[in-house]
Order: sequence, then C-alpha cells, then structure tokens
Amino acid sequence: MRKFLRGIKALQLCRETRLFDCTNRGQQKLGMAFVFPRTNPPVLPHEALEKYRRDDAKLKANLTVGTYWNEREKLHAFETAREARRIVHSRVHCHNYPHQGGNEDFRRLVTEFVLGKGHPALGRSSSFQSLGAGGALSIVGHLLSKYMACDTIFLSSPHWPTYAKIFPLAGVTNIGHYRYLKNGAFDLDGMLEDLLALDCRSAVLLQVCCHNPTGCDPTIEDWKKIVAIVQEKKHRVILDAAYHGYVSGDPFADLEPVRIFVDAGLDVLLCQSFSKNLTMYSDRIGSLTVVASDTEALQAIEAAVFTIVYHSYVAPPRDPALIIATILGDTQLRDLWFEELRQASDRLQKNRRRLYDALMRELPSERWERILHQKGLYCSVDVDLNDVQKLQERYSVYILANGRINLSGLNEGNISHAARALAGVVSEI
Ligand SMILES: Cc1ncc(COP(=O)(O)O)c(C=O)c1O
Repeated sequence: MRKFLRGIKALQLCRETRLFDCTNRGQQKLGMAFVFPRTNPPVLPHEALEKYRRDDAKLKANLTVGTYWNEREKLHAFETAREARRIVHSRVHCHNYPHQGGNEDFRRLVTEFVLGKGHPALGRSSSFQSLGAGGALSIVGHLLSKYMACDTIFLSSPHWPTYAKIFPLAGVTNIGHYRYLKNGAFDLDGMLEDLLALDCRSAVLLQVCCHNPTGCDPTIEDWKKIVAIVQEKKHRVILDAAYHGYVSGDPFADLEPVRIFVDAGLDVLLCQSFSKNLTMYSDRIGSLTVVASDTEALQAIEAAVFTIVYHSYVAPPRDPALIIATILGDTQLRDLWFEELRQASDRLQKNRRRLYDALMRELPSERWERILHQKGLYCSVDVDLNDVQKLQERYSVYILANGRINLSGLNEGNISHAARALAGVVSEI
C-alpha cells in the first residue's frame, strides 16, 4: 500500500513539475507557466509521402513533396553539392560564430550570381545568408512589419500555402491576393488589373519561375508589363526564386525576371533557395539579395537585417554557405552544376510530354493542354479534394490537395498508371 501511495505521489510531482501543459485543466489546477491552446500541427506534404511509403500497392506514384526524385524513385543528390561538400570538409576552418549576414565570399558570389558580373547595380546590392528561401521570407516579413510599418502582403491566388503562415508569424498579419490563374493558364490581365487596383506601395510577393503550385509562369514580355505597373504604383516587390534552373537548365537565365526589375531601376528583395536546385534541402541554405536605390539605403537595410538575424537566432550556420561559395567560385563546379540542372530540366520536360501523351491516350481532352505550357518541377490539374482522395485510395497515386503534381515522381514504371488514374477520376460524373 505504501509503495502504491509513493507511486501516486511521484506521479503528481511529475505532473506538477511538467514544463508544458496543453490543457485548461492543467492551467486552472496547477497554475502552469506554459499553457498552450491545442492547435492542429501544420499539414506537411511529408505526411502524404509517409502514407505513400506505407502503401504496398504494386503500382503507385509519389507526386507530392517538392523535391527532385530520379527515375529510380530515389531522392536525387547532385554530384556538384557532394563534391563541394567534400572540399569544404577537407579544409580547416575557424570555429568562431559566423557573421549575422553569413560568409563574406558567399555573400559576394551570390550577388554576382543573381545580377551577373559587372552589373551596374552591384555597388548598391548585397546578399545575406538565410535558412533557405523560407528563412529569407521570414526576414523580409520582419523587415516589412518592424521597419516599414507594413502589415499586409499580397500573394498570388493560388499560392504556396506556407507564405500565409510565415508572414503573419513575422508580423505581416494581413494576407491579400491578386489573380494569377484562369482556366489553368497564367492570367496576365487579371493580375495586372489587381496590381493596378492596389494602394500605392503595397507589398506584393511574386514568384520568379516554376510557380508553386500552378507551374504557370509569366513570359519575359509579361514580366515587362508587370514591372511597368509595379513602377507606376511604387509597389514593394518581394521576389521568391525557389526553383531556378528547373525551367531552362540554366539557373542564371531563369533569374532573368529579377534583372528586369533591377534594370528598370526598382528596389528588389529577392528570397532565393539552394534547396531544390542543388538538392541541399537539409542544409537549409538560401539567401536574401537586396538591391537598394543607393548605398545609404543599402547600409540601412543591412543594419536592419543584421539586427533581425541576431535577435532571432544570432547567426546562420557556416558550412552550407561555404559549399555554395565553393560552387559559385569554381568554374568547373559551376559548369557541373549547370549540366546537372540541364539534365534534370530535360527529364522534367520529357515527363511533362509523356504525361500529356498518356492522358490523351486515356481520355482525349483539351483539359490536358495546360500541362504542356506549364514550367519546371510542377504541373497542376483541375481536380477537387474528392478526386485527390480517390486517386490515393483507388490508384495509390499521391498528389497534393490543390492539384499540384511533382513531375519528377513520374517514371517509365508509373507514368501510364498515373495517367489512367487521373483520367479515371476526372471522367467520373
Ligand atoms: C515557392 C517556394 N518558396 C520558398 C520555398 C522554401 O524553400 P527553402 O527550402 O529554401 O526554404 C519553397 C519550398 O518548397 C517554395 O516552394
């Protein structure tokens, strides 16, 4: 009996000293310091991936998470990143804290990579290391809310859902939208009309290429029209480049829209990812490139970024930046990188065509035409949540709830099955 009571006492003690308690009961009864309302955890595409892995169907397709899969359904690893990592790890480095802005070589080389060597705006531009493009977007959110008193940002409709979480957490609490998609294609007129109707100096986020989730990109001519309206309305444009290289195979060429803004004399905040185009997802490496109106404005924004980083997580990690700097600073590695991206983008283009052809064989329809015009890692199809569930349950074909398909998940073995599944669900009444 005594032993039993001792057990109860120990249990109570353990409850009372628990640091986090998520129930109101705990709050009322124990006066806990940390009490959280119960909320749902974010729905990550990784959950669909886990479900896919557990699915023992013989014919199945994983077209969900935005990573590059190879023909053998393996998460592809670029040789360029592997070799640069080997070089970095073979050198001895200082172990002191990195600077808030990140590695100096990384910063200089990234700015040159974005604008091109000798670009006239280099003197009023600067890049900062970030925890992927996601980290750069968060820094921009803090810049907007804390330094520019800006609490609203306009996103494309549809958009990458995480934007609508990152910005409010950084203090940009209102999310607005501009039109982006019409009948499965880029809606230039709708977008221009909406950008024109916004208040002057609105913060607007634009994806540079391989639009996530639609795969629909503006043409260079379209970008010039967008830039003209941004200029007229003095909008604060935030550019996000997460997939450059997957359109043309040349990441510098895919960044051309950025330079259209810069060459028009506009200030630019570019959030850039190296997660996808170097398959360095777990390194959490990206950058924020700022092109300011002059050096004085640049210094002010530099100080703000350093403060945000220092007050958020002190400093970024060292090695991922050294890996990127090694690649950008070495002609051979850079060529290898471009060659690997060219092969990946060729394969995506081939898969796009193969999917279209297979769909047309299953269910000839104009509705598939859009797939051919979309760009990069994704294509999007017009399906609803019900269709997406049927695709999973009946065919073991996994796509995102918004109809986004990761084309790299298609291969010789599953492409006909995926097409049959898609045609099957959309043809049901
Ligand atoms: C459009 C877009 N922007 C930004 C990101 C974030 O990329 P990173 O992994 O570099 O944080 C993603 C990731 O999926 C994305 O799709």
